[in-house]
Amino acid sequence: MKILLTGIDGYCGWPLALSISKYYPNSKIIGVDNLSRRKWVKFSNSDSAIPIKSMQKRLKTAKKFGFQNIKFIKGDLSSISFVERLFKNHNFDVIIHCASQPSAPYANSSLEKAIFTLKNNNISLLNILWSMKKFGKNNIKLINTSTTGVYGQPNFKIPEGFVKINQEGKDLLPFTNLGGSWYHITKSNDLNNLHLANRIWGTKIIDLRTAIVFGASTEETNIHSDLNTRFDFDYNFGVVINRFCAMSAIDHELTIYGKGQQKRPFVSLTDFVRSITRLVSYKQIKSFEVFNQTTELLSIKFLANNIAKNARELGSKSKVKFIQNPRVEKEKHNMRMQNINFMKILKSKPINFREESKHIIRTLIRYKAKIIKYKKALL
Ligand SMILES: NC(=O)c1ccc[n+]([C@@H]2O[C@H](COP(=O)([O-])OP(=O)(O)OC[C@H]3O[C@@H](n4cnc5c(N)ncnc54)[C@H](O)[C@@H]3O)[C@@H](O)[C@H]2O)c1
Repeated sequence: MKILLTGIDGYCGWPLALSISKYYPNSKIIGVDNLSRRKWVKFSNSDSAIPIKSMQKRLKTAKKFGFQNIKFIKGDLSSISFVERLFKNHNFDVIIHCASQPSAPYANSSLEKAIFTLKNNNISLLNILWSMKKFGKNNIKLINTSTTGVYGQPNFKIPEGFVKINQEGKDLLPFTNLGGSWYHITKSNDLNNLHLANRIWGTKIIDLRTAIVFGASTEETNIHSDLNTRFDFDYNFGVVINRFCAMSAIDHELTIYGKGQQKRPFVSLTDFVRSITRLVSYKQIKSFEVFNQTTELLSIKFLANNIAKNARELGSKSKVKFIQNPRVEKEKHNMRMQNINFMKILKSKPINFREESKHIIRTLIRYKAKIIKYKKALL
């Protein structure tokens, strides 16, 4: 089995490559990345709190520990000649698409960044879809990582991907319409492109609406420090739990936007990796399936209070502070979201935020100096 994994150098992509390598040792993983995330974080005047190695070093160490089947190709997926060459040279059986510009604040920071994000994310996926068609690959599985952010904050329980528009429920409309940034809009556009390819060409698709991912490591990255995955805490690229843990590790106030009563969906890095690893061998029921890749819905205030408490038990002096909300959002929104289908895929007991956040804080305390060095990027 030959697997194309895009975004292999990323926060989620690298641990996913190791997990797939372990569970499918007879497969061949072709990991693609243009290493742009490393540059974007530098542009945000920050760096990964946990030191990461170059792809070459990661792969060398991975081989030593038995991860023999990963090959890295550097390239830009928004270039059609690069993507076509990839499909010409490799006979893929599964495609996992994790490459995107994934930051909402970065995409919303200027017109230039909004245009870049649209081009980067949408053209990359279009190139993959058209190459799948050109090279006769519409019957293989494309696993796409979207985001739960595309749902916005509606006042109904968010279904796994589709809303019924009549009482009989015969007509189902794909739903991803209320995102709050141009990054989210790229994922809504992606859905339109994926759904169209499925309707007119029969392309087989699994669209994961990925929740906010938290965690500092997985079973496989823990094997050796050369296998670390990145951990960002800056305003643009750090996600809320990871940022709060970084703040608490350096005794910084945990800054809650607005009232903090808004709930958000979360999934641990381990469960992200486990579920997609399982999806590699999953037999699709329908040719277009959507999973809400989330295990917990938690309010921002709850997160901050728990992380501050955990950190104090580890000697931190962190406290929670409410600041004016820089985002346009409903601060008391009680998000409800279905994840029944996703939990059937995950199967194992999900990683719990409270336990995992203790582990993240403990890890980050070791890298305090780095977080202090880039402290200005936190806010
Ligand atoms: N981390 C989260 O909290 C989260 C939440 C929801 C959805 N997601 C989605 O999960 C996926 C993985 O996210 P992540 O957190 O690992 O992001 P990441 O930025 O760490 O990883 C994405 C990788 O894609 C690469 N990339 C971007 N554009 C590229 C291009 N044109 N050509 C080649 N490589 C390119 C980047 O260099 C990066 O290494 C993304 O699709 C993201 O939208 C992530």
